[in-house]
Amino acid sequence: MRLANKVAIITGAASGIGRGIARMYAHEGARVVVADVDDAGGTETVRLVEGAGGEALFVHCDVTSAANVSEMVQATVARFGRLDILVNNAVWDRGDAAVVDLGEEVWDRTLAVTLKGPFLCSKYALPEMIRKGGGAIINISSGCGVVGCGPSAAYSASKGGLELLSRSLAIDYGGYNVRVNTIAPGGTRTPRAAALERPEVRARAAKEHLIQRTGEPEDTAYAAVYLASDEASWVTAVTLPVDGGWVARPGGAPPRE
Ligand SMILES: NC(=O)c1ccc[n+]([C@@H]2O[C@H](COP(=O)([O-])OP(=O)(O)OC[C@H]3O[C@@H](n4cnc5c(N)ncnc54)[C@H](O)[C@@H]3O)[C@@H](O)[C@H]2O)c1
Repeated sequence: MRLANKVAIITGAASGIGRGIARMYAHEGARVVVADVDDAGGTETVRLVEGAGGEALFVHCDVTSAANVSEMVQATVARFGRLDILVNNAVWDRGDAAVVDLGEEVWDRTLAVTLKGPFLCSKYALPEMIRKGGGAIINISSGCGVVGCGPSAAYSASKGGLELLSRSLAIDYGGYNVRVNTIAPGGTRTPRAAALERPEVRARAAKEHLIQRTGEPEDTAYAAVYLASDEASWVTAVTLPVDGGWVARPGGAPPRE
């Protein structure tokens, strides 16, 4: 098993890609903490992990709250004794727009969950990782954070910021054997991307990729396993697109659905 004896926190693991990562991490031997504001979804992820023979703990955690995040890291160490992996995956992405039409409260909430959240989770996770000799942080960005998307100024800005937060963390904590990498998924079938359930939308979206299909949560989860594992012990400060070639497509990125 590629993550045996490791303990991982995954934010936003009550749903979609986060749930996919939690399940695959557990399959690879990690004990996982499902950190989310969605209690029902988080409990369901734990049920799925345990049903497959894994070990998981749900912690209600709003990643925008320093108190919640600090308590979540404490709960992780209290239950599992250590912390090796942090996956910053939670997202809030509603009401986004081009700048003139973008509400200030939407901008603030998007950046709070999607950029401040990874800052707070890293801030409280790092001392535990350093105490045990190192760790791995994986930030889930987006193709929108690499090339920009429209009309979604808040989401693109938050993901672009996350890319460089990753880089700063990698530079500042590499000397402590903490690796920090980013995954930039493309359009992936999750509750957030519900439009992809419509066959005509999925068929159109598939054509936007060099590999002509849309993504599944497992596509990102496989990459997240590699970056968390000891196989990647000399890999840090990279952004790995897992997007079927979406950001590389000739003509650039199309507008988001
Ligand atoms: N699905 C896609 O097409 C796609 C494409 C590119 C990037 N991504 C990225 O992948 C990640 C996961 O996306 P998804 O599609 O699985 O989303 P999702 O909506 O299925 O899951 C997001 C989770 O974040 C949780 N969350 C929201 N606010 C929170 C908060 N304040 N504190 C803690 N948890 C909170 C939600 O409750 C939910 O469980 C995101 O970072 C997203 O930007 C997704």
